Amino acid sequence: MKSKRFEILNNRPVNKDGFIAEWPEAGFIAMASPYDPKPSIRVIGGAIVEMDGTPRDQFDFIDAFIADYTINPAKTHFMDISSAVIAHKLVDINISREEIINIASGITPAKLTEVMGHLNVVEMMMALQKMRARGIPANQAHITNVKDDPVQIAADSAEGALRGFAEEETTVGVARYAPLNAIALLIGSQVGRPGVLTQCAVEEATELILGIRGFTTYAETMSVYGTEPVFIDGDDTPYSKAFLASAYASRGLKTRFTSGTGSEALMGSAQKKSMLYLEARCLYAAKGAGSQGIQNGSVSCIGITASVPSGIRAVLAENLMAAILDLEVASSNDQSFSHSDMRRTARTMLQFLPGTDFIFSGYAGEPNYDNLFAGSNFDAEDFDDYNVLQRDMMVDGGLRPVSEEEVIRVRETAGKAVQAVFRYLNLAEITDEQVEAVTYAHGSKDTLPRDAAADIAAAESLMRRGLTGLDIVKALYETGFEDIAQRVLNMLKQRITGDYMQTSAILDEDYNVISAINAPNNYKGPGTGYRVGGKRWEEIKNIPNIIDREGI
Ligand code: 5AD
Ligand code: CA
Repeated sequence: MKSKRFEILNNRPVNKDGFIAEWPEAGFIAMASPYDPKPSIRVIGGAIVEMDGTPRDQFDFIDAFIADYTINPAKTHFMDISSAVIAHKLVDINISREEIINIASGITPAKLTEVMGHLNVVEMMMALQKMRARGIPANQAHITNVKDDPVQIAADSAEGALRGFAEEETTVGVARYAPLNAIALLIGSQVGRPGVLTQCAVEEATELILGIRGFTTYAETMSVYGTEPVFIDGDDTPYSKAFLASAYASRGLKTRFTSGTGSEALMGSAQKKSMLYLEARCLYAAKGAGSQGIQNGSVSCIGITASVPSGIRAVLAENLMAAILDLEVASSNDQSFSHSDMRRTARTMLQFLPGTDFIFSGYAGEPNYDNLFAGSNFDAEDFDDYNVLQRDMMVDGGLRPVSEEEVIRVRETAGKAVQAVFRYLNLAEITDEQVEAVTYAHGSKDTLPRDAAADIAAAESLMRRGLTGLDIVKALYETGFEDIAQRVLNMLKQRITGDYMQTSAILDEDYNVISAINAPNNYKGPGTGYRVGGKRWEEIKNIPNIIDREGI
């Protein structure tokens, strides 16, 4: 006989998810592998000669990079504080963020990992609330579609910007579309809300060129890994990533690195270490390379980390470790990993409740079938749920309710602006019918086909002719979109002043930088730090479908 109860349970969405038992030898262990090194440090003559049990002559390039560029040899006495005591300091509201950061500057990756082992998820959330760099949390969107339709990218980015995303990123289905996607995103975002930052995540050389041309305003996917073989697999080293980061910095572009638990196990070279320990090494490498921030929280490897016990706790721990290292944290939630709505929501609450610099480092601003980052944890169909969660808990998750009229208006304007720019620069034809279809569309199933060959030719011509962000400004200006031209120009000006390269910088609608420098997190317990209130609370409360007393 079979149990009906078990039959029902077996058919629940959560049982479609993949779960694996711990297997440290293959790296399938979230935290505290029996093979993780014990924390240690030895400094001679100002140089680190031993770190986490490895003497200098046996350092791999990650160890060497961290020892030379990340850990401050003058602060290594902090290794003498027990990990349990550091864990206590993290949740103690009387211990300041600055004090923790100072301690972290002198401790090793194994030590920081050991500290995390003392914390449960509630304690980690308490610590993250204190350690997040920027006072005000924000959010990032993915803006993509399976057709690589630039009109839809423009409209979805305009809507996303209106809904509150401070950063928006696109990527491509077909690599050669990248320049068109980048400019459609740049224009659309500025229609929705001036000051939104945009990026186009593609192969590194192309991405750098797009940035130098002024088609994007930040870059994020400078990936680092926790073991040498995985780094080498990607033809990279910490040194090459540091070099790439300086190339962006030389042109005044905001950047952050990317890492996340699970990548080493996925790539088959975890060296028996726990996912969290390897992620600590990634974070130290990013810090040593001079990055202001990191996108982490397993990111695209969430399927691996979520499959092992305490995996979702490890994802929170890695976000927290990044904040402790004084890095801006864009905290993932950017890939779907579960069939269960309960499970995917619970996972997001760990960043949503304490707040991070970017709660999602990729909330799908389109339906997930259009998401070319392989589907996000939340998508355009979850906007209202998300707004209600903000309202229920009086939490600022970076988004806001919007009206249908406003959304239609910005989608249409974005479509028309891109149409005008494409015509002016002789790129590819965008018809009025295409703009109209996109204006009212949910996703690419509702839009008209594009001439792919013509779009690819246009993308190539855009690059071949040496066009830059200024040509976009001119095209907008000459075709009657003076206000949008001014907004795009203002984004290019950020590259000259460079203030938005400070830790955790975003721009408000008047292009003021809001960062960890001028608007730091000053949480020191109840009643302090950033609190939802005033106009922002009115905005969050104002969801549609409210029964008001006039109507009763
Ligand atoms: N580690 C390092 N890089 C990652 N990315 C995503 N997940 C990880 C991870 N766990 C980066 C890769 C990918 C992009 C979308 O983000 O560079 O191409
Ligand atoms: Ca992202």
